[in-house]
Amino acid sequence: MRIIVVGKEGQVARALAERARAHGAQAVLVGRPKLDLADPSGIEDALIDTGGDVIVNAAAYTAVDQAESDRELAEAINGIGAGVVAGAATAMNVPIIHLSTDYVFDGTADRPYREDDPVSPLGAYGASKLLGEEAVAAEAENHVILRTAWVYSPFGKNFVKTMLRLAADRDELGVVGDQFGSPTSALDIADGIFAVSRNLLERPEDGSLRGLFHMTGTGFASWSDFAAEIFALSARFGGPSARVRPIATADYPTPAKRPANSRLDCTKLKDVHGVELPPWRNSLEPCVKRLIEEARKEVLR
Ligand SMILES: NC(=O)c1ccc[n+]([C@@H]2O[C@H](COP(=O)([O-])OP(=O)(O)OC[C@H]3O[C@@H](n4cnc5c(N)ncnc54)[C@H](OP(=O)(O)O)[C@@H]3O)[C@@H](O)[C@H]2O)c1
Repeated sequence: MRIIVVGKEGQVARALAERARAHGAQAVLVGRPKLDLADPSGIEDALIDTGGDVIVNAAAYTAVDQAESDRELAEAINGIGAGVVAGAATAMNVPIIHLSTDYVFDGTADRPYREDDPVSPLGAYGASKLLGEEAVAAEAENHVILRTAWVYSPFGKNFVKTMLRLAADRDELGVVGDQFGSPTSALDIADGIFAVSRNLLERPEDGSLRGLFHMTGTGFASWSDFAAEIFALSARFGGPSARVRPIATADYPTPAKRPANSRLDCTKLKDVHGVELPPWRNSLEPCVKRLIEEARKEVLR
């Protein structure tokens, strides 16, 4: 299985590259400058030129706060560009797997969100990702959209790396304690994507495999719970740690509003694709350990 991954340096893209061998697969990453989602004219040619059995779109405009003042670019990349990638998948007669987000919801529900719950994004990023979901579904019948949340990994920018960096200089950190979701390892997402890809390729006649699915780590936490676990693990591995003081969202104003409830119900993915990501704490441990080891090597270098 050869999968074409749109996105080169992103967390999920790099996780797919790292995990491919373990799945007996090949991941070919394509991104800027060869493929720019903001420039639809070159997208199909770049994908045809790369060639593969499945396309995974792991690229997106992900700067949630910046999107508020950059709505047009966010929509071009996450909406129009995503649709063009899906159209290319149709032209190539291969399935498209597209990543989306919990930010399509407003977070007011009192239970984890299911795929068919009404969407109502609070900000420009969520709205642009919702446009992408609609464009992908319109351009490719053979599609899977995976909504995920709170992604971290040893790669790129993410909450785990930010917490470890801040703890190097501070004894105590105020972290939002009234937003709830599921920390999700990009490496687990990659494993899930390989499993879904295999299902799509082995059972092309099974229409139930297509459509919208939720895919996050198992179990829920607040950001402050997440931070506390990062520091507990870090301390165990000899890395930096800080005391966590839970604060209210209202005490940490940001340009974009975030949903208070980002919990996603992932039952459909388990029932249809047989994919269930591990409990979030289990996957966090090797990531924190790896980051601390890598930081130590960096100092020694
Ligand atoms: N991170 C999260 O917490 C989170 C939560 C929910 C859903 N998601 C979704 O999950 C997916 C993967 O997220 P991630 O965390 O892996 O993202 P990420 O680390 O921010 O990486 C985004 C990738 O998109 C690429 N990209 C941005 N603009 C592009 C353009 N115009 N043309 C081509 N490539 C472009 C970037 O390329 P460069 O390296 O060239 O900049 C980068 O490789 C995205 O669809 C995101 O919306 C993420």
